[in-house]
Amino acid sequence: MAKKAPHTRELWKSRTGLILAMAGGAIGLGNFLRFPVQAAENGGGAFMIPYIIAFFVIGIPLMWIECSIGRYGGARGHGTAPAIFNLIWKSPISRIIGVLGLWIPLIVVIYYIYIESWTLGYSIHFLLGTSPELAVGANNPDEFLKPYSNFLGSYIGAGGGDLLSPSNMAYFALIVTVALNLFILLRGVSRGIEAFAKFALPALFVMAIILLVRVLTLETPSGNAIEGLNFLWTPDLNALKNPGVWVAAAGQMFFTLSLGFGSMIVYSSYLRANQDVALNGLSSAAINETAEVVLGGSIAIPAAVAFFGVAGAISIAQSGAFNLGFVSLPAIFASMPAGQFLGFLWFFLLFFAGLTSSLFLIQTIVAFFEDEFKLSRKKSVLITMGIIVSSMLMIIFVNQTLDEWDFWAGTVGIVFFGLMEVIIFMWVFGGEKAWAEINRNGTIKVPRFFYYVLRYITPLFMFILLLWWGIELLPEQLEKTSWTIWVARGYLIVLFFVLAALVFMADKRGNRENES
Ligand code: PHE
Repeated sequence: MAKKAPHTRELWKSRTGLILAMAGGAIGLGNFLRFPVQAAENGGGAFMIPYIIAFFVIGIPLMWIECSIGRYGGARGHGTAPAIFNLIWKSPISRIIGVLGLWIPLIVVIYYIYIESWTLGYSIHFLLGTSPELAVGANNPDEFLKPYSNFLGSYIGAGGGDLLSPSNMAYFALIVTVALNLFILLRGVSRGIEAFAKFALPALFVMAIILLVRVLTLETPSGNAIEGLNFLWTPDLNALKNPGVWVAAAGQMFFTLSLGFGSMIVYSSYLRANQDVALNGLSSAAINETAEVVLGGSIAIPAAVAFFGVAGAISIAQSGAFNLGFVSLPAIFASMPAGQFLGFLWFFLLFFAGLTSSLFLIQTIVAFFEDEFKLSRKKSVLITMGIIVSSMLMIIFVNQTLDEWDFWAGTVGIVFFGLMEVIIFMWVFGGEKAWAEINRNGTIKVPRFFYYVLRYITPLFMFILLLWWGIELLPEQLEKTSWTIWVARGYLIVLFFVLAALVFMADKRGNRENES
């Protein structure tokens, strides 16, 4: 009897390439928008100490865990969470938990890709000179920002009702964004994603450095950018007593390193079985932190402080990441010489940051169809994109869906899934086995101290985080009961069941194949 050729999985081509691809998955809009907002809202220097601690207690440990789980699964032909968890822990429960490692990235990418397309649309507007007119002679921040907030409103078509009606540019930019993602993904892991990351990440750093230099040399009648750096870098030990700051710092750490999504597992499954995870994981995390703290921290906050002072910058941050990115910063850039070009650069930077992240999220689902249903790359990409684009109608047209999905998947979901990963790897798989797996073929040796962090401190920290959210955020979230919110929640549940059904179908299919 002829034996079927084993299904071959694509692998990363070079070490630089894989680190850049992983870093590209981590560096996203969050580095340039969410981080400044979190830092400013939580007192600048007060935020940085918990943030740095969270890097060591949550960021690095979970990065190593996800990379090790991924490499372990990849060597056995599986890249996604449901299958790998089940290799570690033979039980339907592990599969159900694993479904979250598909559900979270799927939900998140449905809205992430739409926001990513706004950054493209905005950069085209700035390039063409169809961005808003500056409010000349405005004498307070509100008046100064007004044309830009109106512009955002009409771009996404928010007229106050339940339904949205986006502008033509919004549709156009979305189509181009989806097409680009599709194009890169169809080329594959190393020829598509890796090749693009090798070009996009350096380009992103260059764009950010140009903006950073411009911002840091900024002097206005109301102040200068260096005061913004002081605000961010003057530590405030008193704030360590405030649990809210810790929670914000830990939440940002998850989000920025793209942990708890299941996607880092998939990217690491394309490592060779004998490749290092300890240093590769650390390097990708370090590149992300450079982009976040050095670049992200030196653009938005210092610019806002130069124009509006520290108090003004904080109140802008409190109005959210979208306002900072799409309203305040473009207005600030527009009022400088060569403002249109700076505005373009800002949005194009965000677009590249977003694009490498959406590829990362989508590849998770693609890998599931490839590995578990043995579909061709082309079919897997097309099916995945079909699901994403049709679900996106909810985000484009139904007001508040985005926030609701971001809460369940992008805020609470990732921490819950992260906790499950730690338990499954460090406890079910076993502490010593997991430790050996993390260090296997390591280019560096992880200090033994981290063994205890990974086994006890990381899960405890995450458990407390979830508990806190359950008490603080959940009741507030559940108070929302408009029909649009219920539709949004219903859709989340339906998607979960669809994915769960697929996971169990794939399992049956795998069993049949093994028997024959
Ligand atoms: N880390 C990304 C950011 O900072 C967010 C993200 C998470 C993107 C997970 C993709 C996957 O914007």
